[in-house]
Amino acid sequence: MPKDAERAYLANMGESGVAHSLSKPFSDPQCGIQLASIGFIMSLLPPPPARILDLGCGGGWTSIFLARHGHDVTGQDIAPDMIAVARENARLNGVEDRATFLCSDFEQLELDGRFDAAIFFDALHHAEDEALAIRSAWRALRPGGLLITHEPGEGHSQSAESIDAMERFGVNERDMPPHVIIARGRQAGFTGFRVLPMPSLLFSTFYQERDFSGRWLSKRRWKMLRRAMRMLFMPDPKEGAVVVLTK
Ligand SMILES: C[S@@+](CC[C@H](N)C(=O)[O-])C[C@H]1O[C@@H](n2cnc3c(N)ncnc32)[C@H](O)[C@@H]1O
Repeated sequence: MPKDAERAYLANMGESGVAHSLSKPFSDPQCGIQLASIGFIMSLLPPPPARILDLGCGGGWTSIFLARHGHDVTGQDIAPDMIAVARENARLNGVEDRATFLCSDFEQLELDGRFDAAIFFDALHHAEDEALAIRSAWRALRPGGLLITHEPGEGHSQSAESIDAMERFGVNERDMPPHVIIARGRQAGFTGFRVLPMPSLLFSTFYQERDFSGRWLSKRRWKMLRRAMRMLFMPDPKEGAVVVLTK
Protein backbone atom coordinates (compact mmCIF):
# COMPACT_ATOMS: atom_id res chain seq x y z
CA MET A 1 0.00 0.00 0.00
CA PRO A 2 1.61 3.31 -1.04
CA LYS A 3 0.09 5.09 1.99
CA ASP A 4 1.79 2.66 4.39
CA ALA A 5 4.99 3.20 2.41
CA GLU A 6 4.60 6.99 2.75
CA ARG A 7 4.21 6.54 6.53
CA ALA A 8 7.30 4.29 6.69
CA TYR A 9 9.52 6.34 4.36
CA LEU A 10 11.53 8.23 6.99
CA ALA A 11 12.14 5.10 9.10
CA ASN A 12 13.36 3.36 5.93
CA MET A 13 15.73 6.24 5.21
CA GLY A 14 17.31 5.90 8.67
CA GLU A 15 19.24 8.52 10.63
CA SER A 16 20.62 10.28 7.57
CA GLY A 17 17.04 10.84 6.37
CA VAL A 18 16.07 12.43 9.69
CA ALA A 19 19.18 14.65 9.64
CA HIS A 20 18.39 15.68 6.03
CA SER A 21 14.76 16.50 6.92
CA LEU A 22 15.80 18.53 9.96
CA SER A 23 18.20 20.72 8.04
CA LYS A 24 16.35 20.98 4.72
CA PRO A 25 16.71 22.97 2.48
CA PHE A 26 20.36 23.59 3.52
CA SER A 27 21.14 19.85 3.38
CA ASP A 28 19.75 19.60 -0.15
CA PRO A 29 21.97 19.72 -3.27
CA GLN A 30 19.17 21.82 -4.81
CA CYS A 31 19.18 24.26 -1.86
CA GLY A 32 19.37 27.41 -4.01
CA ILE A 33 16.43 26.34 -6.17
CA GLN A 34 14.40 25.28 -3.11
CA LEU A 35 14.97 28.70 -1.54
CA ALA A 36 13.90 30.37 -4.78
CA SER A 37 10.75 28.23 -4.83
CA ILE A 38 9.70 29.06 -1.28
CA GLY A 39 10.54 32.72 -1.98
CA PHE A 40 8.24 32.77 -5.04
CA ILE A 41 5.49 31.05 -3.07
CA MET A 42 5.86 33.53 -0.21
CA SER A 43 5.47 36.37 -2.68
CA LEU A 44 2.14 34.90 -3.87
CA LEU A 45 0.69 34.77 -0.34
CA PRO A 46 -1.23 37.51 1.45
CA PRO A 47 0.91 39.55 3.86
CA PRO A 48 1.58 38.01 7.28
CA PRO A 49 -0.06 37.06 9.52
CA ALA A 50 -2.12 34.87 7.14
CA ARG A 51 -3.45 31.44 8.08
CA ILE A 52 -1.59 28.89 5.94
CA LEU A 53 -2.13 25.14 5.59
CA ASP A 54 1.01 23.28 4.43
CA LEU A 55 -0.19 19.91 3.09
CA GLY A 56 2.30 17.03 3.03
CA CYS A 57 4.78 19.21 4.92
CA GLY A 58 7.30 16.41 5.60
CA GLY A 59 9.93 17.59 8.11
CA GLY A 60 8.32 21.04 8.04
CA TRP A 61 10.92 23.30 6.41
CA THR A 62 8.37 25.22 4.30
CA SER A 63 6.06 25.64 7.34
CA ILE A 64 8.98 27.00 9.35
CA PHE A 65 10.04 29.49 6.67
CA LEU A 66 6.46 30.77 6.48
CA ALA A 67 6.12 30.93 10.29
CA ARG A 68 9.41 32.82 10.57
CA HIS A 69 7.98 35.34 8.11
CA GLY A 70 5.07 35.87 10.53
CA HIS A 71 2.36 33.55 9.17
CA ASP A 72 0.24 31.23 11.33
CA VAL A 73 0.97 27.85 9.82
CA THR A 74 -0.61 24.43 10.22
CA GLY A 75 1.71 21.78 8.76
CA GLN A 76 0.11 18.45 7.94
CA ASP A 77 1.57 15.08 6.97
CA ILE A 78 0.56 11.41 6.93
CA ALA A 79 3.83 10.18 8.50
CA PRO A 80 3.98 10.42 12.32
CA ASP A 81 7.78 10.55 12.38
CA MET A 82 7.83 13.36 9.79
CA ILE A 83 5.47 15.30 12.07
CA ALA A 84 7.78 14.61 15.04
CA VAL A 85 10.71 16.03 13.02
CA ALA A 86 8.61 19.05 12.01
CA ARG A 87 7.70 19.79 15.65
CA GLU A 88 11.35 19.51 16.70
CA ASN A 89 12.32 21.75 13.77
CA ALA A 90 9.78 24.39 14.83
CA ARG A 91 11.13 24.25 18.40
CA LEU A 92 14.73 24.66 17.19
CA ASN A 93 13.65 27.66 15.11
CA GLY A 94 11.68 29.24 17.94
CA VAL A 95 8.33 29.18 16.09
CA GLU A 96 6.36 26.51 18.03
CA ASP A 97 3.65 29.10 18.70
CA ARG A 98 3.17 29.96 14.98
CA ALA A 99 3.82 26.54 13.36
CA THR A 100 1.67 23.69 14.65
CA PHE A 101 1.48 20.24 13.11
CA LEU A 102 -1.17 17.69 12.42
CA CYS A 103 -0.73 14.01 11.49
CA SER A 104 -3.46 12.97 9.05
CA ASP A 105 -4.25 11.95 5.48
CA PHE A 106 -4.67 14.94 3.15
CA GLU A 107 -7.21 12.97 1.13
CA GLN A 108 -9.58 12.93 4.11
CA LEU A 109 -9.17 16.27 5.85
CA GLU A 110 -12.21 17.95 7.33
CA LEU A 111 -10.90 21.42 8.13
CA ASP A 112 -13.29 24.27 8.45
CA GLY A 113 -12.79 26.96 5.86
CA ARG A 114 -10.59 29.16 8.01
CA PHE A 115 -7.35 29.17 5.97
CA ASP A 116 -6.28 32.06 3.73
CA ALA A 117 -4.02 29.78 1.68
CA ALA A 118 -3.11 26.12 1.34
CA ILE A 119 0.08 24.74 -0.24
CA PHE A 120 1.14 21.42 -1.70
CA PHE A 121 4.92 21.69 -2.02
CA ASP A 122 6.19 18.57 -3.85
CA ALA A 123 3.53 16.51 -2.07
CA LEU A 124 0.39 16.22 -4.23
CA HIS A 125 2.18 13.88 -6.65
CA HIS A 126 2.41 11.40 -3.74
CA ALA A 127 -1.40 11.24 -3.47
CA GLU A 128 -3.35 8.13 -4.42
CA ASP A 129 -6.35 10.28 -5.33
CA GLU A 130 -5.42 13.89 -6.07
CA ALA A 131 -9.11 14.85 -6.51
CA LEU A 132 -9.79 13.98 -2.85
CA ALA A 133 -6.68 15.90 -1.72
CA ILE A 134 -7.66 19.02 -3.71
CA ARG A 135 -11.21 18.81 -2.30
CA SER A 136 -9.72 18.69 1.23
CA ALA A 137 -7.82 21.89 0.45
CA TRP A 138 -10.97 23.54 -0.97
CA ARG A 139 -12.90 22.75 2.24
CA ALA A 140 -10.08 24.17 4.39
CA LEU A 141 -9.99 27.52 2.54
CA ARG A 142 -12.11 30.60 3.17
CA PRO A 143 -13.95 32.07 0.15
CA GLY A 144 -11.31 33.84 -1.96
CA GLY A 145 -8.53 31.70 -0.41
CA LEU A 146 -5.68 30.38 -2.57
CA LEU A 147 -4.40 26.87 -3.20
CA ILE A 148 -0.78 26.95 -4.42
CA THR A 149 0.78 23.79 -5.81
CA HIS A 150 4.45 23.27 -6.68
CA GLU A 151 4.50 19.89 -8.44
CA PRO A 152 6.36 18.00 -11.18
CA GLY A 153 4.78 17.58 -14.60
CA GLU A 154 4.47 14.80 -17.17
CA GLY A 155 7.44 12.43 -17.24
CA HIS A 156 8.20 12.66 -13.51
CA SER A 157 7.02 9.10 -12.84
CA GLN A 158 9.38 7.85 -15.57
CA SER A 159 12.54 9.53 -14.27
CA ALA A 160 15.32 7.26 -12.97
CA GLU A 161 15.05 8.85 -9.49
CA SER A 162 11.30 8.26 -9.28
CA ILE A 163 11.57 4.66 -10.46
CA ASP A 164 14.27 4.05 -7.86
CA ALA A 165 12.11 5.59 -5.06
CA MET A 166 9.06 3.55 -6.10
CA GLU A 167 11.05 0.30 -6.26
CA ARG A 168 13.03 0.81 -3.05
CA PHE A 169 10.41 2.45 -0.84
CA GLY A 170 7.05 1.73 -2.49
CA VAL A 171 6.03 5.42 -2.38
CA ASN A 172 3.94 7.14 -5.06
CA GLU A 173 5.81 9.22 -7.64
CA ARG A 174 3.11 10.33 -10.06
CA ASP A 175 2.98 12.91 -12.83
CA MET A 176 1.04 15.93 -11.53
CA PRO A 177 0.91 18.41 -14.46
CA PRO A 178 -1.11 21.66 -14.35
CA HIS A 179 -3.93 20.32 -16.56
CA VAL A 180 -4.70 17.61 -13.97
CA ILE A 181 -4.56 20.06 -11.04
CA ILE A 182 -6.76 22.59 -12.85
CA ALA A 183 -9.35 19.96 -13.85
CA ARG A 184 -9.57 18.54 -10.32
CA GLY A 185 -9.65 22.09 -8.92
CA ARG A 186 -12.57 23.03 -11.15
CA GLN A 187 -14.46 19.88 -10.09
CA ALA A 188 -13.82 20.77 -6.43
CA GLY A 189 -15.32 24.26 -6.88
CA PHE A 190 -12.30 26.54 -7.43
CA THR A 191 -13.25 29.51 -9.60
CA GLY A 192 -9.96 30.63 -11.15
CA PHE A 193 -6.41 29.53 -11.85
CA ARG A 194 -2.94 30.73 -12.88
CA VAL A 195 -0.01 28.62 -14.14
CA LEU A 196 3.44 30.03 -13.34
CA PRO A 197 6.91 28.78 -14.31
CA MET A 198 8.90 26.77 -11.80
CA PRO A 199 11.93 28.65 -10.41
CA SER A 200 14.04 25.69 -11.63
CA LEU A 201 13.00 26.46 -15.24
CA LEU A 202 13.87 30.14 -14.82
CA PHE A 203 17.22 29.11 -13.36
CA SER A 204 18.13 26.69 -16.13
CA THR A 205 17.13 29.30 -18.72
CA PHE A 206 18.51 32.56 -17.38
CA TYR A 207 21.16 31.77 -14.77
CA GLN A 208 23.39 29.25 -16.55
CA GLU A 209 26.95 30.24 -17.38
CA ARG A 210 27.23 32.07 -20.70
CA ASP A 211 29.12 30.57 -23.60
CA PHE A 212 31.79 33.05 -24.81
CA SER A 213 33.31 30.64 -27.30
CA GLY A 214 31.86 32.37 -30.34
CA ARG A 215 28.14 31.74 -30.27
CA TRP A 216 26.44 33.85 -27.64
CA LEU A 217 23.57 31.42 -27.32
CA SER A 218 24.00 27.73 -27.94
CA LYS A 219 21.20 25.72 -29.62
CA ARG A 220 20.36 24.21 -26.26
CA ARG A 221 20.09 27.64 -24.63
CA TRP A 222 17.76 28.85 -27.40
CA LYS A 223 15.58 25.82 -26.76
CA MET A 224 15.42 26.56 -23.02
CA LEU A 225 14.72 30.23 -23.69
CA ARG A 226 11.86 29.39 -26.06
CA ARG A 227 10.48 26.98 -23.48
CA ALA A 228 10.62 29.62 -20.72
CA MET A 229 9.03 32.30 -22.94
CA ARG A 230 6.26 29.90 -23.93
CA MET A 231 5.74 29.14 -20.25
CA LEU A 232 5.50 32.86 -19.43
CA PHE A 233 3.01 33.73 -22.14
CA MET A 234 1.35 30.39 -23.00
CA PRO A 235 1.91 28.07 -20.04
CA ASP A 236 2.39 24.44 -21.00
CA PRO A 237 -0.28 22.45 -19.18
CA LYS A 238 1.97 19.36 -19.18
CA GLU A 239 5.05 20.90 -17.59
CA GLY A 240 5.89 20.98 -13.87
CA ALA A 241 4.69 24.36 -12.60
CA VAL A 242 3.42 26.47 -9.77
CA VAL A 243 -0.39 26.47 -10.05
CA VAL A 244 -2.53 28.96 -8.11
CA LEU A 245 -6.23 28.10 -7.73
CA THR A 246 -8.68 30.63 -6.25
CA LYS A 247 -11.69 29.53 -4.20
C1 LIG B 1 8.42 14.56 -1.35
S1 LIG B 1 7.83 14.76 0.30
C2 LIG B 1 7.75 16.53 0.42
C3 LIG B 1 7.71 16.99 1.83
C4 LIG B 1 7.81 18.51 2.02
N1 LIG B 1 6.71 19.21 1.41
C5 LIG B 1 9.14 19.03 1.55
O1 LIG B 1 9.17 19.83 0.61
O2 LIG B 1 10.16 18.64 2.13
C6 LIG B 1 6.11 14.28 0.18
C7 LIG B 1 5.40 14.29 1.52
O3 LIG B 1 4.00 13.99 1.33
C8 LIG B 1 3.57 13.20 2.43
N2 LIG B 1 2.34 12.48 2.04
C9 LIG B 1 2.21 11.51 1.11
N3 LIG B 1 0.93 11.10 1.05
C10 LIG B 1 0.23 11.84 1.96
C11 LIG B 1 -1.14 11.87 2.35
N4 LIG B 1 -2.04 11.05 1.81
N5 LIG B 1 -1.50 12.74 3.31
C12 LIG B 1 -0.57 13.57 3.88
N6 LIG B 1 0.73 13.58 3.55
C13 LIG B 1 1.13 12.72 2.58
C14 LIG B 1 4.75 12.29 2.72
O4 LIG B 1 4.69 11.74 4.02
C15 LIG B 1 5.93 13.25 2.51
O5 LIG B 1 6.31 13.87 3.69
